[in-house]
Amino acid sequence: MEPMDRETLDRCEAYAEALYARETETQGWIREELEARGLPRIQVSPLEGRLLAVLARSVGARRLLEVGTLGGTSALWLLSLLPEGARLVTLERNPEHARLAREAFRRAGEDGRTELREGDARDALAALREGPPFDLVFVDADKEGYPAYLEAATELLAPGGILLADNTFWEGRVTEEEGGDAATRALRAFNRTLADDPRFEAVIVPVRDGLTVARFRG
Ligand code: SAH
Ligand code: DHB
Ligand code: MG
Repeated sequence: MEPMDRETLDRCEAYAEALYARETETQGWIREELEARGLPRIQVSPLEGRLLAVLARSVGARRLLEVGTLGGTSALWLLSLLPEGARLVTLERNPEHARLAREAFRRAGEDGRTELREGDARDALAALREGPPFDLVFVDADKEGYPAYLEAATELLAPGGILLADNTFWEGRVTEEEGGDAATRALRAFNRTLADDPRFEAVIVPVRDGLTVARFRG
């Protein structure tokens, strides 16, 4: 098969999104708010969000953890196919992002299933070790923190749980043998450490900027 050119790939992505991944009213509202406030628009795409949703549902996730909330787009995708009893803890250090996400959860009627912990993720992750394990961990915060978030995931995931991580291609910068800035080196270390860890069965799905999907054997 000839590789598809960029235009064809984009057309196929739009096709798949039209079939399966329409954003909700609240997700459209978040997108507009991020734009209007000049906040970073780095939320998951609808196609990636839908993949998160199907994976969460497939593993029967009941207790979910997200590292990096922004406006709540990915949090709403993660919960979108789950039954009423599911709960998502999401970590965000930026107060303006946290305020936007709380408002989004309220608008979506999801404030009862979400718990936003405001502050540095590293502190929250340390505290969460005292609590029950998670079925799903989605890592999408500062890239320099990814190695620490991987380490935390091994402490927090239940056996059979799933680790998801966004941006693991980092626009292709991870494919350079070495060098780059701190974020690039951290993502490369995250990918290598995960690949070498026999407790995980992992892959990178080439959607958007790369989504790592890893099953934790325990
Ligand atoms: N998952 C979101 C996008 C997250 S963008 C979505 O797809 O909708 C990354 C977010 O992580 C930003 O809001 C940023 O403020 C937050 N963040 C970065 N470093 C953090 C840290 N150390 N602790 C908590 N949040 C952090
Ligand atoms: C950036 C961060 C993200 O989580 C993302 O999905 C895209 C870009 C960034 O910091 O540039
Ligand atoms: Mg991301």
